[in-house]
Amino acid sequence: MRQKLVAGNWKMHGNLIENQVLLGNLRDSLAGMQNMASAICVPFPYLAQAQSVLAGSVVAWGAQNLSEHAKGAYTGEVSASMLQDFGCRYVIVGHSERRALFGETDEVVAAKFMAAIAAGLIPILCVGETLSEREADAAEAVIARQLDAVLKIAGMAGIARSVLAYEPVWAIGTGKTASPEQAQAVHAFIRQKLAAQDADIANRLVIQYGGSVKAANAAELFSQPDIDGGLIGGASLVADEFIAICKAAQS
Ligand code: 13P
Repeated sequence: MRQKLVAGNWKMHGNLIENQVLLGNLRDSLAGMQNMASAICVPFPYLAQAQSVLAGSVVAWGAQNLSEHAKGAYTGEVSASMLQDFGCRYVIVGHSERRALFGETDEVVAAKFMAAIAAGLIPILCVGETLSEREADAAEAVIARQLDAVLKIAGMAGIARSVLAYEPVWAIGTGKTASPEQAQAVHAFIRQKLAAQDADIANRLVIQYGGSVKAANAAELFSQPDIDGGLIGGASLVADEFIAICKAAQS
């Protein structure tokens, strides 16, 4: 039985004062949660703050990106070992905004995935199709291509140490959630594709759904057999919403 994981992705939001209130609220409100796991992925400058507020609580923390390089002359980049220094458990890899806005190719995403694994971090690998790809009936082909790039260098042993997130690009920040049936169909496709290589690892893999998840739709999404929690953008900035989504992951 897989335990659901609800992870917040704050994206480029927050400041020291507001974070202190939000993180403290989450730490206290989620303390009693059972049979689910939670995490918050904050912007790099706030990792120390997340660590100081959340250390010792049930809420883990992580980053939203990392360099594929271990160290060196890469101005502005942040390495996996730096994230480890701040107690990160998770790091989001290959978010569609990184792919679309910052030119991250499937190969770069795969290299980042490996860098995270090598440092003992758990990559949350995002995959998902754009609206035009869905309309062209290419969703599965796109997701297979994104997965294959990672499988090629990480293998199923790498996948076993990761979390996957299916995030249809057309559902991110748009208020258009994939229907539970649409999301379930893609989650089942991903699990079956991986099961062809290793059924046991595929069966144990946590596959989150992301894209306009809210308190109002979380329970229905999470009731699908292959949806193991969510990667939450906008609603992770609102304590009551995020807490309600975590509660929905308990049942
Ligand atoms: P929203 O929940 O704001 O749609 O964002 C989803 C997302 O991109 C999480 O990584």
